[in-house]
Amino acid sequence: MYRQAGTSGLFTYPLALGTMQFGWTADEATSFAILDRYVEAGGNFIDTADIYSNWAAGNPGGVAERVVGRWLAANPGVRERVLISTKVRGPMGEEGRRGRGSPYQEEGLGRGWILRAVEASLERLNTDWIDIYWMHWVDNRVPVEESLAAMTELVQKGLVRYVGVSNFSAWRTMQALWAADRRGLVAPVALQPHYSIADPVRAHFERELARVAETYGLGVFPYSPLAGGFLTGKYRPDAPAPESVRAEGIRRRFFSEKNWRILAALEEVAAAHGATPAQVALAWLLSRPYVAAPIVGANTPEQLAGLLPAAELELAPEEVARLDEVSDWERWRTELEV
Ligand SMILES: NC(=O)c1ccc[n+]([C@@H]2O[C@H](COP(=O)([O-])OP(=O)(O)OC[C@H]3O[C@@H](n4cnc5c(N)ncnc54)[C@H](OP(=O)(O)O)[C@@H]3O)[C@@H](O)[C@H]2O)c1
Repeated sequence: MYRQAGTSGLFTYPLALGTMQFGWTADEATSFAILDRYVEAGGNFIDTADIYSNWAAGNPGGVAERVVGRWLAANPGVRERVLISTKVRGPMGEEGRRGRGSPYQEEGLGRGWILRAVEASLERLNTDWIDIYWMHWVDNRVPVEESLAAMTELVQKGLVRYVGVSNFSAWRTMQALWAADRRGLVAPVALQPHYSIADPVRAHFERELARVAETYGLGVFPYSPLAGGFLTGKYRPDAPAPESVRAEGIRRRFFSEKNWRILAALEEVAAAHGATPAQVALAWLLSRPYVAAPIVGANTPEQLAGLLPAAELELAPEEVARLDEVSDWERWRTELEV
């Protein structure tokens, strides 16, 4: 049941639980209920970030980490059974957003900020260690060697177990692997990209990064695997959008002829299994050997419960082939690409 993240020694439940909703669109009591439901089902991978959710009015950032930290404190013994991943890079709250102060001290992937940010995350999370510490997105100002040297120090101190990269392009990921190898630094073992069957997200990931993950044994943790809710089937071309803070963004990004065809195929495959399109979209990701665990987000324990059966849903090879075909982008690859 548990899947190895790439070639690392980290084993994850097939669905990771995202926490971006916590303290934003899910209050603390609901967030606790979601976490309880997840671990009751056998879930062991919780993904958060220091900045969640500082884009919401009045949210200073750090809120989701604090919710997870209070839940860990309220459930003695659970920390030993779950993996906690969090991220560093973004500015915290209003202060950082206005860009006041030194950018190298208030955000980024420079040594100074990484060392400060990790202490703050550990304190908010009520834990002594982070299982995967993600570089949330690239910092063009700082050589990756500097970031990896800081990460290496955190691993040596026992504060961090593994390092991952999120939103890194293929060449940036290769640069990090190469730098780690050349300098004897800790190398990333995992990727957290935006990846789902939706168009054009699938092509964006599979075109280059999938090959990097396969070739170098990196475990892939796709975020927004349901295209923010689009792949649940609750959006329709000719019906009012469901209640969601993200509905407008989803309409803009995903309403297209191709995505309606993908959704129809998901629904067909789902019907054959007595499943839902969301579960099939997750099972399709899990059919990729390089995928460790899609990171799902939920606003209620019921939404999460509706996704959990995906952990055990196996698609037949012809079903995967049908879904591959309807979401195909490969024909755009030229013969000269390898
Ligand atoms: N590294 C990064 O840059 C990055 C970026 C984004 C996310 N993430 C991580 O990935 C996690 C997941 O991202 P996401 O929230 O965008 O993922 P998602 O799984 O694509 O979308 C989750 C949303 O779908 C809807 N939903 C979920 N289950 C449902 C169900 N059973 N029935 C109907 N609707 C349902 C809910 O939205 P509504 O209720 O609003 O419709 C929920 O918030 C985040 O929590 C975060 O940990 C990382």
